[in-house]
Amino acid sequence: MAIRPPEDRLWWKQPLHRMELVWVTIAFLWGLVMFFTMIVWHFTGKQNLSNEAYRTDPATYAAKTEAMAAQYKVREEGTTGIPVIHPPAGSDVYLLGRTWEWWPILELEKGQSYRLHLSSVDWLHGFSLQPVNINIQVHPNYDMVLTMTPTEAGEYTIVCNEFCGIGHHAMVGKIYVVDGAAGGAPAAPAQAEEGEE
Ligand code: CUA
Repeated sequence: MAIRPPEDRLWWKQPLHRMELVWVTIAFLWGLVMFFTMIVWHFTGKQNLSNEAYRTDPATYAAKTEAMAAQYKVREEGTTGIPVIHPPAGSDVYLLGRTWEWWPILELEKGQSYRLHLSSVDWLHGFSLQPVNINIQVHPNYDMVLTMTPTEAGEYTIVCNEFCGIGHHAMVGKIYVVDGAAGGAPAAPAQAEEGEE
């Protein structure tokens, strides 16, 4: 069988079978559909992420995240010991991925904008925000910044969607979106005055 070359050495010169032509055509047209969908979705999908990124390193990024967490911690999540952070509206918010957790838990205000920084302190992870389905790769040594404005209050789950080892499936995190500053947060620091009307 396939161990020997075909009898007819010029097999590729035979005319295309009709069925094959049909499938090649379907595949080609479908490829075009998907290609143009990609372009249309870029403008209509409202899912474009910022392409703002900076060089960083794990130690620097972890230090920034820990400083923010220490400053704006409002409580701990149940008995997990994971801090819940309520940063001021409009501020720079840091979230880090590491084996195997998203840290810390964030509490944001509906209708306010934040500069969400994302980075990993070990290797590649995938930030996937559910149920809204926003996905972005999270690399070590890169600080990706997304400017985001939560539009609905609720509890959002972050899952990891890049395989990162034995605990990958358990790598989850959380973002709370609350109505106004009333999410059990202490008064926001003075700088919030300007933007709050
Ligand atoms: Cu982190 Cu999978």
